Amino acid sequence: MGRKGENVAFKKNLLCIGAGYVGGPTMAVIALKCPDYRVTVVDVNEERIDQWNSDRLPIFEPGLDDVVRAVRGKNLFFSTDVPAAIRAADIIFVSVNTPTKTFGEGAGMASDLQHWEKTAQQIIEHSDGSKIIVEKSTVPVRTAEAMERILRMNGKGLRFEIISNPEFLAEGTAVRNLLEPDRVLVGSLETESGRKAAREIADIYAHWVPADKIITTNLWSSELSKLVANAFLAQRISSINSISALCEKTDADIGDISFAVGSDSRIGPRFLAAGIGFGGSCFRKDILNLVYIARSYGLPDVADYWEMVVRINDFQQERFVQRIVHEMFQTLVGKKIALFGFAFKANTGDTRESPGIYVARKLIEERAVVSITDPWALDNARRDLEGIGGRVEFQTDPYRAAEGAQAIALITGWDAFRQLDYEKIFRVMVKPAFLFDGRNLLDHPRLFQIGFNVYPLGKPSRTHFA
Ligand code: NAD
Ligand code: UDX
Repeated sequence: MGRKGENVAFKKNLLCIGAGYVGGPTMAVIALKCPDYRVTVVDVNEERIDQWNSDRLPIFEPGLDDVVRAVRGKNLFFSTDVPAAIRAADIIFVSVNTPTKTFGEGAGMASDLQHWEKTAQQIIEHSDGSKIIVEKSTVPVRTAEAMERILRMNGKGLRFEIISNPEFLAEGTAVRNLLEPDRVLVGSLETESGRKAAREIADIYAHWVPADKIITTNLWSSELSKLVANAFLAQRISSINSISALCEKTDADIGDISFAVGSDSRIGPRFLAAGIGFGGSCFRKDILNLVYIARSYGLPDVADYWEMVVRINDFQQERFVQRIVHEMFQTLVGKKIALFGFAFKANTGDTRESPGIYVARKLIEERAVVSITDPWALDNARRDLEGIGGRVEFQTDPYRAAEGAQAIALITGWDAFRQLDYEKIFRVMVKPAFLFDGRNLLDHPRLFQIGFNVYPLGKPSRTHFA
């Protein structure tokens, strides 16, 4: 089975189709931890592959540069030659995008599996031997069944064993999550060949993940576990966000509540930070997919239950903007508002489904002048707001963004925003100066002392108005 590459005999050839936020980091860590495997990552996007082969990787992820530098050209390769890579591979991870469908049946809810299916067709076309196909993308439960059917009809007598191995990394902490995962999930058919293929995938992770953290299940449990894990995480955020609205009516403090509730060891403290609402490419799409699946299996109550998680998330973003309009005397026309942050969370340049997009659009509709600053996400912000009209500026320097602004709306919890000189910022702002902290990141008593009217989320506001 071994293949020669730069004088080293590799035990196996691993391929990943899709060099995105998941494919790139996951395969880089596998290459780092498995020097006995040759790892190739391919993508149809040439620019992305060029960036993976350059000094400026296509995604910002703490610690990733070091990992890639250590293995690229040794046992990690990035390429656009999909056919050759498929031919050479023993195991193929598929990590293509599976966004929400925007057309036809299930539009706005179901997963769009066109890239997945195209990949399956490419695998059939270019394979000349049997292979293990690993679902790395997040897919609806029972996708493997459809894939198995497509791959079985290959007309070449080849066997493809399908394994589900969903990825649980979070952006911004991807390298740490991959090096020290809470668990690795490997799902297979409960047949002899299915179990054998699952063992081959588990063996990869066994290079660095303790055996008790490698969970094997049947295919359907593995596929569904991924959707459910994201739904549970998002549900905690919507739960605490819904209570933040109640806090603002009652002068209770959401920080105290998160702490008191999270101190119950049965509940635990994580994912209880109230904020402007969850963003990112996964939560919304995966819950909507779960809702769609439940509905299509005739379970409308289950579907409605999970759909509320998304409804509350929309509500949280809407009320953030409504509050800005209301507190700034019901008009934003011609007022400059600085958005501090645009990424969907700190430590990533990713802006997919970022609350910043909604906030910027709404503020522009109100005819405010929007000035956006973010340490890593400005290029994506420009793309997201292309053709939006109105007056929008993009500033690398937060002090420039705040100059002449009447309000700051903090969208992303970047640590850098904590370190700024808010006295200096206050001096260059139009008065009365407002600060809406969508992440409860900043020192509110201190900002109030400086002169800001401060509006945290789920906490009493601090204003200088009588
Ligand atoms: P992404 O859009 O960043 O990357 C997907 C890549 O696949 C793109 O570069 C695209 O060009 C490429 N691609 C699509 N079709 C192709 C084809 N036929 N041949 C070759 N390349 C092709 O997406 P992502 O964020 O990496 O997510 C990938 C999957 O992983 C999704 O299903 C997602 O739900 C899941 N996931 C994402 C995260 C995350 O944090 N982003 C975490 C866990 C799971
Ligand atoms: C998520 C899951 O955590 C990860 O396991 C899965 O593989 C992909 O989806 P990601 O979207 O990268 O990861 O980031 P995550 O840290 O989960 O944050 C998602 C959103 O929730 C962000 O907008 C974040 O700001 C928000 N969030 C998170 C809160 O508002 N409060 C919290 O307490 C935690």
